[in-house]
Amino acid sequence: MQLATGHEHWSSRLAFLMATVGSAVGLGNIWRFPYSAGMNGGGAYVLIYIAAVLLVATPILITELMLGRRGQMSPPSSMGKLATEIKASRKWKGLGYAGLFTALCILSFYSVIGGWALAYIPALGSGVLAGAPADKITGVFTDLVSNPWTLLFWHSLFILVTVLISLRGIRGGIEKAVNILMPMLFLMLVIMVAYAAAAGNFAAAVDFLFTPDFSKITGAVVLDALGQAFFSIGAGMAILMAYGSYLNRNVHIPRASLVVAGADTLVALLAGFAIFPIVFANGLAPNSGPGLVFQTLPLAFAQMPGGIVFGTLFFILLSSAAITSSISLLEPIVQWVDETFPIPRKIAAIISGFLTWALGLMTILSFNLLADFHPLGMFDRFASKTFFDLIDAFTNNLMLPFGALLMSIFAGWLMNKTITSEELGLATNQLWFRSWRFLIRYVAPFVLSIIFLTNIF
Ligand code: PFF
Repeated sequence: MQLATGHEHWSSRLAFLMATVGSAVGLGNIWRFPYSAGMNGGGAYVLIYIAAVLLVATPILITELMLGRRGQMSPPSSMGKLATEIKASRKWKGLGYAGLFTALCILSFYSVIGGWALAYIPALGSGVLAGAPADKITGVFTDLVSNPWTLLFWHSLFILVTVLISLRGIRGGIEKAVNILMPMLFLMLVIMVAYAAAAGNFAAAVDFLFTPDFSKITGAVVLDALGQAFFSIGAGMAILMAYGSYLNRNVHIPRASLVVAGADTLVALLAGFAIFPIVFANGLAPNSGPGLVFQTLPLAFAQMPGGIVFGTLFFILLSSAAITSSISLLEPIVQWVDETFPIPRKIAAIISGFLTWALGLMTILSFNLLADFHPLGMFDRFASKTFFDLIDAFTNNLMLPFGALLMSIFAGWLMNKTITSEELGLATNQLWFRSWRFLIRYVAPFVLSIIFLTNIF
């Protein structure tokens, strides 16, 4: 157990930035963004996505890190402490607990998909898929998800790696991991984009991602882009309050948040440029959905010169990106367990990892033995949803807008200007401060309430 205010802090601003960019950059950028852009028609979606990042997700990220640093404890304790400071109800702790629960839910399925990425490293790396017929390649995915034992193996390995990093603490574990993984990740991504440019149809990809066709914009496309912006940055769920709590006072939160949001968006676009040129050059469909990276892309890799080597590299890239995010998802839970019970951090990390691992079993079974089990089948809307579909929708469609809405109310309406401007290092009359406050007081609550209500009804 650590003293509340005496816990570890990031060793430098760069270390914090690498860890937080690592948290932001993950499956959301490399797996989800390309297929979501593909399904939503490309260019126009990308524009709305960028607007959502700038106008809503980044102000919430700033807010979340600010609340964490001011609180200096796990999300529930920080919220309790801040509520006392501004004489608001202690019930605000509930927002922190919601964050822990959301992190647990997200990580439980995130690690199953991270496990798929791990499984593809040997699947492609062994070379057996080189030149293989299409059904053999798509069969890799079907075989993987239909076998609960195989999924269990990769899910367990993914959680194990996450826990092994986490139990070593902030400096000894998380920082060390991101110091190696983040530079590697950027390098791999650049190599992948260069390969796609050399071997694929780059012009078609640029056209697809950057030529907006506004007739493709519908309410559903806007909702998807907003949800994607939040998930990709990782903000809105009170999870990143944990990373904020390890921040030193000399770090300028708004500036750091812009770096994180910028890097995250850049990686999503680069991932698009690594994937779509290959998809288009091979006459494959950009709108194949969640299978884009796991089924469509390997089809191309198997046929292309150097495809097996670069395909393997791609899945190493995807796995590393997923790990630097999963350690951030585990952190608030570990921090809270460590703070609440008289046990060392190591044990706290193992317990937290075990809980997420256990919940992940339900996601594993959703793809095979329980594929026909629809827990909320009695409601029309959820009639065909598996447990995995439900937990994914629950976190993204309900917990996210709920958490982000409450944080924006707390920071925008309940905390007074003097406190927030001091914590953000901005004067109250500065344009940056006024813009942040306007976005957080009016724009975010408005947009988030719409998302929340649309998703409920
Ligand atoms: N941002 C991560 C991704 O794009 O994969 C996922 C994530 C990490 C979501 C951390 C939420 C979070 F708190």
